[in-house]
Amino acid sequence: MAYPANPNLRASTLALLSGIWTKLPAAVARARAWGADWCERSTPFIHTIDGEVVAHVGVLEIPVVIDGRAQTVAGVHAVCTAAELRGRGHMRACMEAALAWIDARHATAILWANDPAIYTRFGFASQAESIFVGPVVGGREDGVRLLARDDPADMEFLTAQLARRSPVSQRAATHEPGWLALIDLALWTTGPSLAWIPALECVVVYAVRDRFLDLYDVIGASIPSLADIAAHVGPGVDTAITYFCPDALGDHTLVAEPTVLIDQLMVRGAWPSDPQPLAFAPLGRC
Ligand SMILES: CC(C)(COP(=O)(O)OP(=O)(O)OC[C@H]1O[C@@H](n2cnc3c(N)ncnc32)[C@H](O)[C@@H]1OP(=O)(O)O)[C@@H](O)C(=O)NCCC(=O)NCCS
Repeated sequence: MAYPANPNLRASTLALLSGIWTKLPAAVARARAWGADWCERSTPFIHTIDGEVVAHVGVLEIPVVIDGRAQTVAGVHAVCTAAELRGRGHMRACMEAALAWIDARHATAILWANDPAIYTRFGFASQAESIFVGPVVGGREDGVRLLARDDPADMEFLTAQLARRSPVSQRAATHEPGWLALIDLALWTTGPSLAWIPALECVVVYAVRDRFLDLYDVIGASIPSLADIAAHVGPGVDTAITYFCPDALGDHTLVAEPTVLIDQLMVRGAWPSDPQPLAFAPLGRC
């Protein structure tokens, strides 16, 4: 489902969100220019007063792989109420409508919360995420083509790679054709480098900080080894940190370190009960 066709409601919804997250309009426009339309992907649950939208809970239907099983989860996002109208149950009304809609369609809802206490009362429970840290041997930064977000040809190329990608992990990863990754990339204003490595036929999303290689995502039809990636993008690095489960990277020396990266993953409904560490790549969050 998408935003209401009614242009007033659509504009009023976006005005509410923009008033709370000031960088959102530019990011929505950027993602739309790349072919990923927030309004087509998000199902909004809204509360109106005199025709104005005053509260919002958005739901994204996100194809994922969790423990090797393909499924679609409901990603709850952009939860807000107009500042002057908080504490009156408006968000609760939106959330209850959203959860009824979700429960009729999906076994699992997820979100990332900066304030988990808001969501426990709606049946969400915190789920630990980890980063994965270990030694690598950096190589020369050659044979690599950096992709520029402001170059339409590069973004078209990235979009094509997203459409043919394999999940970056079988343990926990999105498996969507690119709209969520592009929306997340548009929102990530201080974003990482994107590089196409022809020899490995993949795009890596990464940053190099002194001796550290921060690896945020790998986008390709198959996932190369961490050693091969480090050999291409990691001059001078000796330690890699992956922000997603590294099971597909063929490296068994990475050690999981539990962490909260800005926001806390919370889950409602079906979820693996085993305690294995996991993380969703930053371009697979909602
Ligand atoms: C968080 C926010 C959406 C709450 O909206 P609201 O309309 O004031 O919430 P409601 O009045 O519907 O409250 C619903 C319930 O959540 C609880 N709640 C609201 N804000 C809370 C908070 N910050 N911490 C814990 N509980 C909270 C209320 O006590 C209420 O509980 P109850 O119904 O069991 O008594 C609003 O404060 C907001 O827009 N904040 C800025 C955006 C934001 O931070 N969004 C969340 C991102 S994770």
